[in-house]
Amino acid sequence: MPETATAPTAPISDQQGSRPQEKADNHPELGASLPSRQQTATGPPVRGWDVEAVRGDFPGLARKIGDHPLVYLDNAASAQKPRSVIDAITTCYENGYANIHRGVHRLSQEATATYEGARRTVAEFLNAAEDEIIFVRGATEGINLVAHSFLAPRLEPGDEVLVSEMEHHANIVPWQLACEARGARLRVLPMDDRGELRIDELDDLLTDRTRLLAVTQVSNALGTVNPLPEVLAAAHQRGVPVLVDGAQAVPHGAVDVAALGADFYVFSGHKVFGPAGIGVLFARRSLLESMPPYQGGGDMIRRVTFEGTTFAPPPGRFEAGTPNIEGAVGLAAALDYLQGLDQKALTAHEQELLSTATERLQSLPGARLVGTPRHRRGAVSFVLDGIHPHDIGTILDQRGIAIRAGHHCAQPVMDHFRVPATVRASFAFYNTPSEVDALLDGLAEVVEIFS
Ligand code: ALA
Repeated sequence: MPETATAPTAPISDQQGSRPQEKADNHPELGASLPSRQQTATGPPVRGWDVEAVRGDFPGLARKIGDHPLVYLDNAASAQKPRSVIDAITTCYENGYANIHRGVHRLSQEATATYEGARRTVAEFLNAAEDEIIFVRGATEGINLVAHSFLAPRLEPGDEVLVSEMEHHANIVPWQLACEARGARLRVLPMDDRGELRIDELDDLLTDRTRLLAVTQVSNALGTVNPLPEVLAAAHQRGVPVLVDGAQAVPHGAVDVAALGADFYVFSGHKVFGPAGIGVLFARRSLLESMPPYQGGGDMIRRVTFEGTTFAPPPGRFEAGTPNIEGAVGLAAALDYLQGLDQKALTAHEQELLSTATERLQSLPGARLVGTPRHRRGAVSFVLDGIHPHDIGTILDQRGIAIRAGHHCAQPVMDHFRVPATVRASFAFYNTPSEVDALLDGLAEVVEIFS
């Protein structure tokens, strides 16, 4: 999305369907933050995490940008892909390609089995049932599907939809469009100047008119990990269903939607080391059964006549047309890869990188963090006094360092902090302490150039 290059201003600062068994405790609680350590990025590696071995699985990380090794710190925008994902997609094409659910021939049957196997992998990753998993283009389409098929038919003039102030545009605009079409009102759960949700305001904001609450699990722009158990409990006490945007959470480990109690949960394949153009909507079975189709076409019907059509049960009802078969296969390979990693060591490694980068940014002259949440995952946003984030991004790029500079598709977050843009460094489990060093060295050079 194009972003305006203007100078930064100073920031002022149920229904329950049948559920699978609870997962084993290999899913570290998202939000559990490591103790802050006064340690430089060149400190000892996290035990049990062989980052060089992991990096060897990602061919894209071997890229050079000019003479510089790539330092990829834009993982919140999109992640690199492991060889197993590339191979899975290649195999899909090389083994003989066919459409699913439509053929009696061998290739079609194999494709159907592979595609439905991918759905099973996603269901296991989320601890959901297979028929609660809808393949979509990405988190954005998942949210639009819920806005269209779940919310719109239930929305009367004067009703309300509650979103948080830290949502990115994909979790604002679809609700806004639905509200505008129905004469309903979009309300906002504010955040404070740390970039944490004001959950003390939930009681007032959840009313008899609230038809849905949409909230992100982890903020893309700030890295804030939201206290979802409290948010969901407050909403459910009022009978309000909740959509959780998990796009920035799942790249940091599997999420248990059964334990979380989310009514709807979305994420995108490309941020979780899989391909683009594929994503997931989880919805409780009972909710899906109550929802009309989102799009019409082949594969979502039971019987079609010119007088009318009856529809397939979920998930087929919501997957009109030939789906992204290779995308689903690649996504399943990515989730298999992620789940094959030592989750505790992965979390410890990522949090070590993030806390070290955050601490060192805090002591960089002229740097100011945008958002100082107590629980952070994945990303840190900041500005350098008097230097536009785009200039910082361009100079870092000349040193092979990829960060995101801009509004991060979260303009209301920028408005809150009274900045037009920030620099965001976002980490994955394959990043290294020396990449944190490279970022800080690069920023010191930027400061030097502008001084
Ligand atoms: N939502 C993506 C990001 O945060 C594009 O960069």
